[in-house]
Amino acid sequence: MPIDAKDKGHLLVVDDEPEVLRSIRRLFRKTYAVHTTASAEEALGIMETEPVDVVLSDQRMPETSGVELLGEIRRRFPLVLRLIITAYTDIDSVIAAVNDANIFRYIKKPWDPERLAAAVDDAFRVHDELVRRRDLLENLQERFGDLEVRVTEKTEKLLSANEALKAVYQERDALIRSLEEEIRTRKAMEARLRQAQKLEAIGTLAGGIAHDFNNLLYPIIGFTEMAMDDLPPGSPVKENLDEVLTAADRAANLVRQILHFSRQRSARPSPVDATRILEDVLALIRADDVPNIRIAREFEPDCGPVMIDPDHLHLVFMNLCANALQAMGKEGGTLAAACRETEFGPDDPRPPDLAPGRYLQIVVSDTGPGIGEDILEKIFDPYFTTRSLEGSSGLGLSVALGIIQKTGGAIEVAGEPGGGAAFRVYLPMAAEGRPASPDRAVRPFPRRK
Ligand SMILES: Nc1ncnc2c1ncn2[C@@H]1O[C@H](COP(=O)(O)OP(=O)(O)OP(=O)(O)O)[C@@H](O)[C@H]1O
Ligand SMILES: [Mg+2]
Repeated sequence: MPIDAKDKGHLLVVDDEPEVLRSIRRLFRKTYAVHTTASAEEALGIMETEPVDVVLSDQRMPETSGVELLGEIRRRFPLVLRLIITAYTDIDSVIAAVNDANIFRYIKKPWDPERLAAAVDDAFRVHDELVRRRDLLENLQERFGDLEVRVTEKTEKLLSANEALKAVYQERDALIRSLEEEIRTRKAMEARLRQAQKLEAIGTLAGGIAHDFNNLLYPIIGFTEMAMDDLPPGSPVKENLDEVLTAADRAANLVRQILHFSRQRSARPSPVDATRILEDVLALIRADDVPNIRIAREFEPDCGPVMIDPDHLHLVFMNLCANALQAMGKEGGTLAAACRETEFGPDDPRPPDLAPGRYLQIVVSDTGPGIGEDILEKIFDPYFTTRSLEGSSGLGLSVALGIIQKTGGAIEVAGEPGGGAAFRVYLPMAAEGRPASPDRAVRPFPRRK
């Protein structure tokens, strides 16, 4: 079977003697595809167009030397194996070329065909091996390059997965935070609900007792006053009966507070001018001529009406002012009252339970001893009092709280020991309507001991 030139190795023979070219072609044409040329320039041209594997060149050529031509071929086609045919006279330059690795073998003239064939076959074998190794290397590089690409891809995937994981963690943390916040809010709501239920239960119970107690107070006060009227002027008994009346007054006050608990359900809210009611309460203090007390007021003009039962609001202010006066005691001080409208947007910080909207803000503050951190939590509890010796019931603030909460408002307290106390009340503004006048009798202000 004839060997196709495509499958054969390609041999290029360069020699300026046509006879040499012919005989070498004869020698190799069966084994290799043989290209021949007499010129170095043409040889380079063949190298460009043919897949030459091995070059066999004569050292002596008209335009150049074989060593030079093979040096050029090595530079341009490093895998091509180069052999030179040389005479003894040129042996030095050829040895130098061998040492520089410019050529693979040299063949002495006159050459023996068998040895030449063996040298050329060797060259083809070595060439094949070089090609095989190069292919192997390229293959490895390709695979290694692919591996690098795969590692880079995997790294990128890992990085993006990491980012995604980070986002998941952040989301989880945010969720935990919001859950914690919800739990806190729920706990606070539960606490307030418990407080409201406590108030309700006490209210129902106390309402019944207060009603009977109130009936008992009428004869006590009535008969005491009658007895006092019957006494001759200057009687020492009068002083004692005065004490009875004072105690009965306090008892009446207490009953009023208790009854407010039980009546809260039947409160009749209407648009009320809160500043007028506060003015009334302050006027009572002045009428009572409480010593060493200065009253400061800061009322924004034209404050709009609030939705509340006017009697209840009166009671709230009475309790707050009574507390302030009692806190300042005999040394006196300043009782300050302030009123202004304010608005809370959905994102504004505001007291818990207060819905966004417009409110009247009333602040009643004093220059008394303030409220210790330890009792601040308890002052709105029914029956909590630090004034047991003065005959206080501890109901004032819990009644105020109940009334305010019923209207959808809120009450806050601020105060440090020695720095006075300030109670801030928020009442929802009435949408429209005429402020109602409080329908009530003027009651005596609780006396201080
Ligand atoms: N302005 C204030 N300064 C200092 N402490 C206050 C003030 N207001 C209230 N307190 C504290 O809060 C407690 C509870 O007040 P609250 O009005 O509910 O009851 P009370 O004044 O003791 O009794 P009552 O109001 O029934 O006569 C008081 O005993 C007092 O310790
Ligand atoms: Mg009080």
